[in-house]
Amino acid sequence: MISLPMAFALRAMNRLYTLEKPLTFSGKGAMIKLADLMVRSGSRRPLLVTDSFLLKNGMLDGLLEFLANEGCDVTVYDGIIPNPTFAVVEEGVAAIRAGKCDSVFAVGGGSAIDAAKVMAAASTSKKSLDKLAGILKVDQPLLPFYVVATTSGTGSEVTTAAVISDTQTHKKKFFVDPKYLPVAAAFDTDLLVSLPGPMTAGTGMDALTHAIEAFISRARTPATDRDAATAIRLIVEFLPVAYSNGNDEHAREMVALGSFLAGNAFTRAGLGYVHAISHQISAHYNTPHGLANAILLPRVLRFNRQVSAERFAELERMLQGNSSAPYALIQADQFIERVDALASTVGIPVNLDDLQQKDFASIAKDALAEARSSYAVPKVMRKSDVTKILNSVSNGSRSVDFA
Ligand SMILES: [Fe+2]
Repeated sequence: MISLPMAFALRAMNRLYTLEKPLTFSGKGAMIKLADLMVRSGSRRPLLVTDSFLLKNGMLDGLLEFLANEGCDVTVYDGIIPNPTFAVVEEGVAAIRAGKCDSVFAVGGGSAIDAAKVMAAASTSKKSLDKLAGILKVDQPLLPFYVVATTSGTGSEVTTAAVISDTQTHKKKFFVDPKYLPVAAAFDTDLLVSLPGPMTAGTGMDALTHAIEAFISRARTPATDRDAATAIRLIVEFLPVAYSNGNDEHAREMVALGSFLAGNAFTRAGLGYVHAISHQISAHYNTPHGLANAILLPRVLRFNRQVSAERFAELERMLQGNSSAPYALIQADQFIERVDALASTVGIPVNLDDLQQKDFASIAKDALAEARSSYAVPKVMRKSDVTKILNSVSNGSRSVDFA
């Protein structure tokens, strides 16, 4: 959870720094194009950060062959695990030092990218990992850092933050600094097509949540609105296609670009109650982040139905091309129904069996604290509102009476 000073610092950071989007490559062969850029930029001794699955399944053979042909001496670190720990980062830093690496090339989902960000920072810093945690703590330029995103959801390839678990304290530590933006990123359809259906659905709905929460945030700007709206258009159109036909390369690429734009929007405008509640649910029951978000999203949109009616209506008009519905509130309802239907189409259940009534009070308390300290939400929830949402998730009812 982000603390109050961290939320303040995040807002200050966004005011002080103009965050540029990283250069991106997408489509077939994008990973090699990115590696080519890295080599042309002078790297000869990269650290490849990935997970053992990608490596063992030969999905990086072409990359390793390309780098070998270019005369590179590659060190491989394939110890990435979900929710990477300080120990993982320390192993990576040791590999960088042993291999005298001059760059970091991450291939994977949010866990690989987050761990690689902090490896690239820690390897050039004299600070301990604990001292690098927090806002604007990076004291040296990172090793040049390149990212190939193999999932389409976290947006980590375009965010200024990384999350690493401290196994001593059992807390997640946030590392936030504009220096964590990579030099360049790639979305390679040869890798994206291998993402299984449930992960496609969960990560895609996570990206949609990023875009919608940024679009209704009070910290939004014209630039974040543009990125968020484009992301919503791409994900609504192409996520069902990518889910039903994983080999559709065009759909995969469009969802990846939507996720990238959504990440760009939320890293500046922030998130909202979907994330505030889902973080607590995941902490209690280890629920995958995207799945928890996808289940919560329509319910939180219904909570914001009145206050964000104009915003939702604008999105609905964009998606319909026009709308015959006469009032913004009706168009807003159409948008919420559309999000609900999209979740169903990609196999998201309406309820979570794991939820336990005894945990509702602490989930609600921590969710409200996270939102209060970190997000510019359009309307403040009460504890009873969170409880109503949790009850509806528990019993599988789509409608929530917030009166
Ligand atoms: Fe998320």
